[in-house]
Amino acid sequence: MHRTIDWADGAVVIIDQVALPGEYRRSTLRTVDELVDAIRRLAVRGAPALGAAGALGVALAAFAGGDVRGEAERIAAARPTAVNLRWGVTRALGKLGDGPAAVVALGRAMLDEDERKNRAASGHAAEVVLRSCPRRPLRLLSHCNAGHLAAVAWGTALGVVWHLHERDLVESVLVDETRPLLQGSRLTAWELARAGVPYRVQPDSAAAFAMARGLVDCVLAGADRIAANGDVANKIGTYGLALAAAHHRIPFVVVAPESTVDDFATTGADIVIEERSAAELTELHGHPLAPANAPVFNPAFDVTPAGLITAVVTENGVRPAPSP
Ligand code: MRU
Repeated sequence: MHRTIDWADGAVVIIDQVALPGEYRRSTLRTVDELVDAIRRLAVRGAPALGAAGALGVALAAFAGGDVRGEAERIAAARPTAVNLRWGVTRALGKLGDGPAAVVALGRAMLDEDERKNRAASGHAAEVVLRSCPRRPLRLLSHCNAGHLAAVAWGTALGVVWHLHERDLVESVLVDETRPLLQGSRLTAWELARAGVPYRVQPDSAAAFAMARGLVDCVLAGADRIAANGDVANKIGTYGLALAAAHHRIPFVVVAPESTVDDFATTGADIVIEERSAAELTELHGHPLAPANAPVFNPAFDVTPAGLITAVVTENGVRPAPSP
């Protein structure tokens, strides 16, 4: 598979995640407007991939000239929750004084770095899973998409599955479909199928029951922002999974690069949670799924308190529990 996001011939090239799983298509984004639109539509998504999008977006702006810092702010604000987006923009702005080519060089280096760090983080997390779960082979539960498609390559939480599958230690993965945009059934299931890992898609609402029936050895989740106290913002539904996992004494492991840690967020309460359009819940391909103008609450993420998480694992290993 190509990198989820790359730089080629003066443009950003992405695997278009809106087209999957029906079509594997790459799209070329030549302007900041096109990049911001792709980020908002989730054609490129997932915290680590957004970090790369932020940096490469600044490169687009630098080559275009004009108000590069204003354009950079527009990119950073395209989605508010994954801290990696602003982190990528800020890093790239640091090279602006050296010219557009230097910004691209940094962006390219960040692409390599992303894969290296996520491979390391998920490798450490695989060891945590093996230490925490006695059963072999393992039955894992995945929420949203934290795989190759959410990063430049490889992935974070799903990267754990790749490491364990290489060692023939995965029996199967239960894939939460991840309403309302179905990153689980559209993207995670697609990645698992390609890799030959056995999986079953389930409605999000089946997860607690699957745990109660003894079908889950460990829950794996990515993160969009990790607060200084260890609270984790991730795809909506993650908090409920963590509550159910704690009730059933099932390990709940979060995997992310250090770039997802936001020391300026003291606790999860400081994390801005994106609310998305009502239409994501009230319409399907133009057909109504709710009464006309139904009021909607559609947060894209939630916050899981640190106390419900077995381990937060990054490229540096298990993050130490924050002092109380
Ligand atoms: O709205 P999305 O699809 O960008 O949400 C993505 C997630 O919540 C992922 O779990 C998170 O970014 C970690 S990806 C390695």
